[in-house]
Amino acid sequence: IPVEEFDLVIFGGTGDLARRKILPGLFRRFLSGQMPKGARIIGAARADMNSDGYRQMIRDAIAEFGGDEASETDCIERFLAQLHYIPVDAKGDGGWRELHALIRFKVINAFYFSVAPSLFGDLAECLHRFNIADESSRVVVEKPFGRDLTTAKELNATLAEHFDEGQIYRIDHYLGKETVQNLMAVRFGNVLFEPLWNNHYVDHIQITVAETVGVGGRGAYYDTSGAMRDMVQNHMMQLLCLIAMEAPSVFGADAVRDEKLKVIRALQGIEPHHIVRGQYAATDDVPSYRDDAENSKSHTESFIALRCEIANWRWAGVPFYLRTGKKLKARTSEIAVVFKDLGHSIFPGDEKRHRNILTIQLQPNEGMQLQVTIKEPGPGGMRLIDVPLDMTFADALGPEADDVPDAYERLIMDVIRGDQTLFMRGDEVEAAWAWTDPLIEGWQARGDVPKVYDQGSAGPEDAMMMLHREGRRWREIK
Ligand code: BG6
Repeated sequence: IPVEEFDLVIFGGTGDLARRKILPGLFRRFLSGQMPKGARIIGAARADMNSDGYRQMIRDAIAEFGGDEASETDCIERFLAQLHYIPVDAKGDGGWRELHALIRFKVINAFYFSVAPSLFGDLAECLHRFNIADESSRVVVEKPFGRDLTTAKELNATLAEHFDEGQIYRIDHYLGKETVQNLMAVRFGNVLFEPLWNNHYVDHIQITVAETVGVGGRGAYYDTSGAMRDMVQNHMMQLLCLIAMEAPSVFGADAVRDEKLKVIRALQGIEPHHIVRGQYAATDDVPSYRDDAENSKSHTESFIALRCEIANWRWAGVPFYLRTGKKLKARTSEIAVVFKDLGHSIFPGDEKRHRNILTIQLQPNEGMQLQVTIKEPGPGGMRLIDVPLDMTFADALGPEADDVPDAYERLIMDVIRGDQTLFMRGDEVEAAWAWTDPLIEGWQARGDVPKVYDQGSAGPEDAMMMLHREGRRWREIK
């Protein structure tokens, strides 16, 4: 279904995110027929270039990052014709009048701030000074949304000077992932899970986001951030919220975000022995984290595992184990809900622990698996084994499963539709930092040094031990 006519201005339109994600994503929406013919995309950045130069830059970007669709050459010319470029100076007057002249005020206007957060205030101020933005405009911002509570509050305050909360779209691209949205469909679209989704039946929950890539290429940025700020405060937190939140009364922006906020506010502090941080070591001629970060004394973590608890009636006493890291064994993201043991087995001689485990595989091989216990076939008596009830979406849905929009495509179209459900509200971001800050300050004060782990492993041994001590174990990363 095509969205309404729009003018989308991308500040930082020549930058990495614009070339890798935003424009190839818009091109795919164009191919799917969702982008109206009259829509305009206006790149704006410091570089001195005209619209033709910009079109060439984006043609190259789509060829490089656009996947198979990039070969649709006929279409690409029609798409590029909808692109424009204006050099603007965020800290001066240059370009703003030209931008004003290009914008059509009768259509939806959205401004994507794909720039350093330090420029948000300048851009917002210019947009108002030159009468380009008004109360119907939308503004899109990206992470990092601050590096702690203080800076996040400052950013929120800067944006609030110029825009209402209902105009601000804070992107966490995990929320745009089809399988992440599916978490809500699974939980709130089935009668099966809800009665078991609490501390009476759930033993613990594991959330793993493992990556095989290192930080090479962006080491300088990453070293000021680390896995806690880069992944846990935002993406992992969102996954945790969707798994743990109460059912909102309706799938709508404030109803969903109110429930997520309650989860974040109910998160407990964490004891030091429930946080394990790691850094990948060098192997043969492959550089270590410290080499990639170009900081031989770095104490920044490229891996983190932690155990947290949510203090409310539903979850009190249920550990949530989170882990994420770079240069691990495989690229995989999954959530496992591990149910409690049966109180009593009626099968003599069956001493093995049988557990139902619901695994939601977010990427790759999106799907769900439910581990169930059945009788081992054969004449050997009532011997039990665990087997998976397997639903890989590609099998269940056929080719449709491949045809899902990338997170950015989905989210940008939501901006145009004016739907904030999958965007973070200011208070949510602040609450997440309010939980994260003391943990980071704690390990800094203790002078904690990350444990070294081998590339291609599952992370430091201590992360394994954290669960072993409690008679549990991490699921294999594969
Ligand atoms: C980004 C982080 O937000 O998410 C990266 O800054 C990380 O460090 C990336 O690699 C992971 O996203 P995805 O979609 O590849 O799981």
